[in-house]
Amino acid sequence: MSSDNNIIFTASAGGVLKGSIRVPGDKSISHRSIMFGALAEGITKVSGFLNGEDNLATLNAFRSMGVEISDPENGQLEIKGVGMYGLQTPSGDIDVGNSGTSIRLLAGLLSGAISQKDFNIVLTGDSSLSTRPMKRVTDPLKLMGALVETNDAGTPPLNIHGGKNLNGIEYLMPMASAQVKSCLLLAGLYAKGKTCVTEPAPTRDHTERMLRGFGYSVKSNNGTICLEGGGKLTATDIDIPADISSATFFMVGASIAEGSDITLEHVGINPTRIGVINILRLMGASIDVINERDVGGEPVADIRVRSAKLKGIHIPDDQVPLAIDEFPAIFVAASCATGETVLTGAEELRVKESDRIQVMADGLTILGVQNEVTDDGIRIQGGSIGEGHVESHGDHRIAMSFAIAALVAKGSITIGNCANVATSFPSFIALANQSGLSISSS
Ligand code: S3P
Repeated sequence: MSSDNNIIFTASAGGVLKGSIRVPGDKSISHRSIMFGALAEGITKVSGFLNGEDNLATLNAFRSMGVEISDPENGQLEIKGVGMYGLQTPSGDIDVGNSGTSIRLLAGLLSGAISQKDFNIVLTGDSSLSTRPMKRVTDPLKLMGALVETNDAGTPPLNIHGGKNLNGIEYLMPMASAQVKSCLLLAGLYAKGKTCVTEPAPTRDHTERMLRGFGYSVKSNNGTICLEGGGKLTATDIDIPADISSATFFMVGASIAEGSDITLEHVGINPTRIGVINILRLMGASIDVINERDVGGEPVADIRVRSAKLKGIHIPDDQVPLAIDEFPAIFVAASCATGETVLTGAEELRVKESDRIQVMADGLTILGVQNEVTDDGIRIQGGSIGEGHVESHGDHRIAMSFAIAALVAKGSITIGNCANVATSFPSFIALANQSGLSISSS
């Protein structure tokens, strides 16, 4: 540990990625498995669960509301569902740490689940989450009849009031957000009548798929997703694929490090998540998607990536929501490409775990990569990656992206504030080192 009790990664320059690895389970699906398993009737068995801090925040939230959930062991756990209205009053505030998915989905779910009860629930988070916008969920929840208060800045903590009857709404989302969509669909489970959410562009659809897996009817048509309130969820078994967002670091690493040839096993390739594959292929990457199969309603495949000469591109706007968590790593690929890469239409990146446009730009500048920040994106001039110390600002995906950049850097890269890598990928250093990187933490 460094003196400020945080973690610094030191990634040595050079390396080649080889072998076959399975990165941990999908974070988005892991959250939903706990939420739906808790509200279902019966016992839900989960395998492939991501034992990261974000998902444990969701797990602990439901334990604090009386749901029995076994300790995750090798990705396996069991949830004893309490039914749609079986949650109990938590003894205090629910702290979800760094997890935007937990707080936004719980805001909707709990607005409904405590609609017949006379208690309040307070959701809090860490310093990063406490700066993130929540009006995007509390405003439409208010239209449904819920009362969820933010603080004056529109940020957490969230205070959810019980005893409010909800009505279904038709809502056109102002931004492409799976968290907002899921929040409203979860509130809609408890609303009178029909709730319909229209998305301006397709976003990850794990909520819709998993609700159907639990026997709940959800209709999707041309970007509008509808369900009727008042139904129930029936327990089921869930096999969670490896997280394409975690696999991304190795896809980019293998693409840029000459001589690499790595296979990522059992990766979720849901069409709403594969923007990174599409973008890297447009840049010239060598990516083979093999052994495609269906696992419990989610498409899965093995992904083989071999190094290739990358070229700069203008990233198509329609790929942005499909690769929304992958841009820090894609920026590293762009830094190694020939020519300029231009990203537009990505203002959402500014309200992630950090301002991912500015924080990546600052780090790339330190590493000698020319770039220009714009309101909704960035222009990156490909060339070479230098060496030095960069800051991740506590953003897990930025920390891992700069670690991967070391594969082609002129010297070591040290990265500050890396503790939050444990939110999504606790075994990152071990898997990275097993595959050919050389990263230590202190
Ligand atoms: C997520 C949705 C996305 C993504 C986040 C996980 C989800 O957020 O960035 O990491 O599980 O629904 P937005 O909905 O804010 O785009």
